[in-house]
Amino acid sequence: MATKNILIVPGDGIGQEVTTVGKKVLDAIAKKFNHEFIYDEALIGHVAIEATGNPLPDESLAKMKKSDAVLFGAVGHPKYDNDPSAKVRPEQGLLKMRKELGLYANIRPIKLFDELLSASSIKPEILKGADILFFRELTGDIYFGEKGRKNNGDTAFDVAEYSRYEVERIARKAFDAARTRRKKLCSVDKANVLETSRLWREVIQKIALEYPDVEIEHQFVDATAMLLIKDPRRFDVVVTANLFGDILTDEASQIAGSMGMLASASIGDGTGVYEPIHGSAHDITGKGVANPLASILSAALLLDISFGLKEESEAIINAVDAVLKQGFRTRDIADANTPTEKILGTNAMGEEVLKLL
Ligand code: IPM
Ligand code: MG
Repeated sequence: MATKNILIVPGDGIGQEVTTVGKKVLDAIAKKFNHEFIYDEALIGHVAIEATGNPLPDESLAKMKKSDAVLFGAVGHPKYDNDPSAKVRPEQGLLKMRKELGLYANIRPIKLFDELLSASSIKPEILKGADILFFRELTGDIYFGEKGRKNNGDTAFDVAEYSRYEVERIARKAFDAARTRRKKLCSVDKANVLETSRLWREVIQKIALEYPDVEIEHQFVDATAMLLIKDPRRFDVVVTANLFGDILTDEASQIAGSMGMLASASIGDGTGVYEPIHGSAHDITGKGVANPLASILSAALLLDISFGLKEESEAIINAVDAVLKQGFRTRDIADANTPTEKILGTNAMGEEVLKLL
């Protein structure tokens, strides 16, 4: 029996709806396996700006640091997207959280549930069996370098920066993971143009010497973008920088059928944060149609990675698999052949998973 403190941080938009379901699933696991999970909640993003003026209030950060793991929703609000001059933005809360908690490794498993072969826009025969594990560096790169304006505001810049140490630690995580899988690692960079990428490649080549059993391949990011769609099965573990990883994992979400299916883990030296890769989706917020499976699968990652509860984690994944086998779908993963009575909203989908737990 384990006693753990879990902080729920719903954030904005559909974050609220999907984490509510994710938490219910954690509750069901606690009951079934006789654990005690103690919950608290904290604000981040637009809702935090509205309440306090700050996208990541100190109180939220303190709670995160104290908890054993964080189940996270999403941040963002359309009102900022078309207002480039806004000084305070919801995303600043997310980036500050990543930096303050030292969440340098963002792990995004891309695996298609067989039942969803037809939900993807990629041909089934290309997709079947694809299983990729992304390691996206999360606290460096152009996201966190100096940014600003010059020439009276007519020129803007964002500096991309990486230190040897930052590349080494994400590289080791990725090599370690490759060892437990098909022993193939693809490192993605733009070393033909960028100095940060040349350092990246140099470091990866050096660390590779410690892992002679792992086959290492270097790819330029533009080629990776193409190959992910052309032949996703050629990839096992992929490691890349912050910005490239952001873009490539959205692309790769199509391999899993929908963004609504993908969970991610952000880990570092302290508390881990688990969240869907989808955003706040204000276009469907409050309609009760969001797919809760990414949040449910995030809860599964949380149990596995932060608490080492493998059996519990697998119970969740198996339940999701079974619900899909029964034919239930949310709107985003339904296709022309899905009978209307099998298309469920957020809560109803959650209930189907809970029934099996
Ligand atoms: C993600 C998101 C964030 C990012 C945004 C919301 C700042 O797209 O987690 O992938 O760019 O990292
Ligand atoms: Mg993204």
